[in-house]
Amino acid sequence: MKRDFIDTATYTKEELTDIIELSLAIKRAIAAGYYPQFMKDMTLAMIFQQSSTRTRVSFETAMSQMGGHAQYLGPGMIQLGGHETIGDTGKVLSYLVDIVMARVIEHKTVEELAAACSVPVLNGMSDYNHPTQEIGDMCTIFENLPRGKRLEDCNVVFVGDGTQVCASLGFITTKMGMHFVHYGPRGHQLGEVHKTIMEENCRISGGTWQVTDDRNAVRGADFIYTDVWYGLYENEMPKEERVKVFHDFQVNRELMQLGNIGCKFMHCLPATRGEDVTDEVADSESSLCWEEAGNRLTAMRGLLVYLTRDRKKPSGVRVAAAKEELDEFMANRIDKSGN
Ligand code: CP
Repeated sequence: MKRDFIDTATYTKEELTDIIELSLAIKRAIAAGYYPQFMKDMTLAMIFQQSSTRTRVSFETAMSQMGGHAQYLGPGMIQLGGHETIGDTGKVLSYLVDIVMARVIEHKTVEELAAACSVPVLNGMSDYNHPTQEIGDMCTIFENLPRGKRLEDCNVVFVGDGTQVCASLGFITTKMGMHFVHYGPRGHQLGEVHKTIMEENCRISGGTWQVTDDRNAVRGADFIYTDVWYGLYENEMPKEERVKVFHDFQVNRELMQLGNIGCKFMHCLPATRGEDVTDEVADSESSLCWEEAGNRLTAMRGLLVYLTRDRKKPSGVRVAAAKEELDEFMANRIDKSGN
């Protein structure tokens, strides 16, 4: 049976950990010079209803590094929901490619596409969430845990607008048992739907969540994360208006100092420098945002392999099979180099 990756709500903490660990194992193998050909002869259809740098480039690079091919289907390039229904497009693509990703304007579009496709569908961002960003961000957090802390000990504070990236960060951190705060202005905070999901995640994982406009909530942060103010694309607020609403929520040196010693800065990018973050913070030693962009590629590789490899087998078995190949290479490399 095929599995889609539309929303991490449909994955357990253990399954998400499998995906993250697989992504990091492939990253290590590639860093050591071994490019596993896990996507050999497979084709990914990449549907974009909106522009993208990181999502588009990382998916395409991931496919070519692992022996596959990606087709870019940009805004207006295919008959998605125009002359042809979304369902019919999904059925057709299932005969032509092995896996589909879609960045969509409305979340229901990617859900409808997934329902029609017999091949796996990944959500490359919708107006509701950004789940591939979640996996990349968790890879970055795994690699940058504060000294002596476990994942479950970490405080993650999202500052500013309650965008789909903010929602996604809340979903994954609470699922993994972390402590999540959204510090944002009233009227632009995460809503009841998000709170219900985070509450349920915390009930299972032991994590915590808070949504507030109290600046004190930033104290003790291990990771401070932000995104552009009032989203991108057609719903953008005029600059003058968004600066008025969000000016207290800029990530600058003063705000970073509220975090723990060694607190790291994260941003999904693109950033609006001088608005959501200052140059000083984005380009500082504490900034993980460039590494985070690189881990979009890490995440895409792991997700593509996870969703296509031995689809009938359970999560752990699929990951074990891929890891076996990677471990074999690493063991041989150590034998040959003698260290
Ligand atoms: N963070 C992110 O998804 O970037 P793009 O919009 O450039 O893909």
